[in-house]
Amino acid sequence: MHRGKLALLGGSPAGPVPADPHPSFSRRALRRAMDLLERGMTVGLGKHHPIIREAEDRVARWQKVKHCMVVSSGHAALQCALIGLEVGPGDEVITTPYSWGASTSCILHCGAIPVFTDVDASTGLMDPATIEPLVTRRTRAILAVHIHGQPADMPAILRAARKRSLAVIEDGSQAHGAEIRGKRVGRFGDAAGFSCMGFKLLGTAEAGYLVTPREDVYWKAALCSQHMGRSPDPGFPSSLRPYADSLVYSYRLSPVTAVLLSEQIKKVDREIAGRRRNVEELRRRMRGLECLSIPELPPGFVASYYTLSLNFDEERAGISRDTFLEALNAEGVAAGCYVPSPIPRWERLRTKGYRGPRTPWTENLLRAGIDYRSMSFPGCDEKVRRAVDMDWNYVRRAPGRMARLAGIFARIEEHLPELRDWELRRQSRAAATPRGRARPSRREVLR
Ligand SMILES: Cc1ncc(COP(=O)(O)O)c(C=O)c1O
Repeated sequence: MHRGKLALLGGSPAGPVPADPHPSFSRRALRRAMDLLERGMTVGLGKHHPIIREAEDRVARWQKVKHCMVVSSGHAALQCALIGLEVGPGDEVITTPYSWGASTSCILHCGAIPVFTDVDASTGLMDPATIEPLVTRRTRAILAVHIHGQPADMPAILRAARKRSLAVIEDGSQAHGAEIRGKRVGRFGDAAGFSCMGFKLLGTAEAGYLVTPREDVYWKAALCSQHMGRSPDPGFPSSLRPYADSLVYSYRLSPVTAVLLSEQIKKVDREIAGRRRNVEELRRRMRGLECLSIPELPPGFVASYYTLSLNFDEERAGISRDTFLEALNAEGVAAGCYVPSPIPRWERLRTKGYRGPRTPWTENLLRAGIDYRSMSFPGCDEKVRRAVDMDWNYVRRAPGRMARLAGIFARIEEHLPELRDWELRRQSRAAATPRGRARPSRREVLR
């Protein structure tokens, strides 16, 4: 066990605790990608291309969902899901304020209005009890996000949706392989979008996919998002043929990336199991800690841990979360606050008094009379205030890694009185200097 002062207070760092390289590609994946490049096969316009078909078949089988369309990003996948459900101007989509911005911007880019629920203050997941009061006659869909690899409460969300005949979309970008009672996320709603950019659990280069059990959704999404709407593909509906043209988003995926997706999916279950094993070991080792905890999920809900979002208890600790983060970073453990504030408070969603560059949505929000600044999200505020977020590329069994991590957390807890004094000294210095920094800069973790 490391002795002496904390690194933030002048001691030497106890870390780093190296993670595993991610994404990593098998020799076969690299060979197949290289082969496509050598043969100049960089374009595939739909299922009639064998590499695109292979990727879509593999993902559909793994997700256990009938239809899959590979696309260029997670954002594209989500926008395609909304397009496939014909969500558009005049519609409202209920979603979460605690997420990566793409789960909101996909709604804005369809011309629809995002309406925000609150979230659970421990997990940051959509609180289903806050859905129903938001439903109006304009509500078309609920878009739930499985944030930090944790599955949202899909049974409750589906119950709320069914009562009012709303469509349900899942954003599984951070949660490939997360499950609820053995059923993988992406299988619950009318459609789901996943990101497969390099950081993600199913990490390639830049990619995404849409899955849906509904054939109509699949083809309507394809029609608007790919070269000629994928009209040469087998099964393209004759009713859509007059509308197949090039007035499309260019969301197609290159076979070079599609082949990586096909290969990565072969090892994703094994990697997710490793991530879970390491979190469970860390949870056991953190049992004695008073100020830092890993959120508990209900029985049957299993996360896949894209990131690990811990909660810090400022009241118990007597120091701010930001001071704790600084102490952790100084020890060599990279951690930060992933969602800086509830999305509806972000500057580009301001309606009254917005002075930034023109957006495609501000006028739309103003016409709908939206003023997100007047709304409150107490659960989300609390999660943002407590979160200590870490990238979680701890996949392999490496003896001692979780013990070291838990040891660093414990060491910081042991030194809380000194950190309290340090924080007070800094606050009084900042108060004495008119332009002094009152708060430390936040160190963002990778998304
Ligand atoms: C929750 C969530 N949704 C959507 C996206 C968008 O994915 P991409 O970056 O591939 O467009 C991301 C990725 O960062 C994400 O984390």
